[in-house]
Amino acid sequence: MTQATADHASAAVTSEEIDVEFRAVTKRFGSLTAVSSVNLRVHKGEFLSLLGPSGCGKTTSLRMIAGFEQPDEGELLIGGRDVSGVPPYKRDVNTVFQQYALFPHMSILDNVAYGLKQRRVSKKERHQQAAEALELVRLVGRDTHRPSMLSGGQQQRVALARALVMNPRVLLLDEPLGALDLKLRKEMQIELKRIQDQVGITFIYVTHDQEEALSMSDRVAVMSNGVIEQLDEPRAIYDRPLTPFVADFIGDMNFIDGQVVEAADGGFAVDAGQGVVVRGRGDVARGRRVRVGIRPERMAAHPGGGDGRANSAPSEVVTKMYLGDQVQIVARLASGSEVIVREQRTSADPALDTINPGDQVAITWDEAAPHLLGDAPHAVEKETP
Ligand SMILES: Nc1ncnc2c1ncn2[C@@H]1O[C@H](COP(=O)(O)OP(=O)(O)OP(=O)(O)O)[C@@H](O)[C@H]1O
Ligand SMILES: [Mg+2]
Repeated sequence: MTQATADHASAAVTSEEIDVEFRAVTKRFGSLTAVSSVNLRVHKGEFLSLLGPSGCGKTTSLRMIAGFEQPDEGELLIGGRDVSGVPPYKRDVNTVFQQYALFPHMSILDNVAYGLKQRRVSKKERHQQAAEALELVRLVGRDTHRPSMLSGGQQQRVALARALVMNPRVLLLDEPLGALDLKLRKEMQIELKRIQDQVGITFIYVTHDQEEALSMSDRVAVMSNGVIEQLDEPRAIYDRPLTPFVADFIGDMNFIDGQVVEAADGGFAVDAGQGVVVRGRGDVARGRRVRVGIRPERMAAHPGGGDGRANSAPSEVVTKMYLGDQVQIVARLASGSEVIVREQRTSADPALDTINPGDQVAITWDEAAPHLLGDAPHAVEKETP
């Protein structure tokens, strides 16, 4: 096979495996840019989450896929076809919202079968498919009930069955569990994941809850201010955040700023002042002022002061809290900034148990713990006394 044919063949395969594609899509509302030149390829059969704080453009992105909004710039493709001008009902997608919007006067079975009726599927056939969809969401024996007779979680299952029965190419879910209490929410997360595995339909899931996104998704797109900051597997998003925003938004992160004083062989040393030197792995130019992030669970606290070595910072314990299966302290470094140190209480010898507010401790971490997060936000150096 020639190179050209090989390239062509692989390109063809790739485009078949992409269900939804954003090509430099921008959406404005007046002077506000809600979605800013976003590129995104959603693979067939994957569970992809759009995760980000309120107002970052998640719902707008979803509404453009559904056809309720039109991009101002760029192209949007579903199943490889440009969908500009294609009305919502002609797109092979269905949406599940936070508000279930079930028909109150209809039975559960008729609610689920409604879309099929619009498609003129025979009564027998649509009732059978609706019953199967209800079985899929584990809601059996409720066919004749009205929505008001069901709990919030059960109503959301009906809404899900109603979307799944249409067998769309892509299912769009906009904070579908947002109205449920925490325990029910956790149960439904497991259910949703199971259902997605079972049906194999592409799910695009919008949430501002990082735990939800990380636990359910194959990939997560972290959004901020209308752009995708990072798109990767949950583990990579957590272990290797690429920007300060992602590092801060996903889990807790301690930040230490300083100047790169050594850079060689894929390792670096950052002088954070007050005798604190952070050694880590990564490529960065000498002399640059950078921000380094370290997860609370990657730090440890030891009674006594520091020993002046790298990756050790003398500090004072400010608070201590028990968080069920974890214990955490907040410690103030000599620079005045505070860090969180967290420990699982499964450990046979929980170090933090013997440490209390007011104690002098050395906060330590190993060389694999620091993440390089780009330039330090403030270029102004603190005056050293
Ligand atoms: N129809 C509209 N008219 C004007 N501005 C809008 C409209 N829809 C959304 N916006 C604005 O666009 C931005 C993105 O909104 P969007 O609803 O996509 O955010 P979101 O990420 O879904 O937030 P949330 O988590 O609060 O639901 C916001 O600043 C919002 O105020
Ligand atoms: Mg929204």
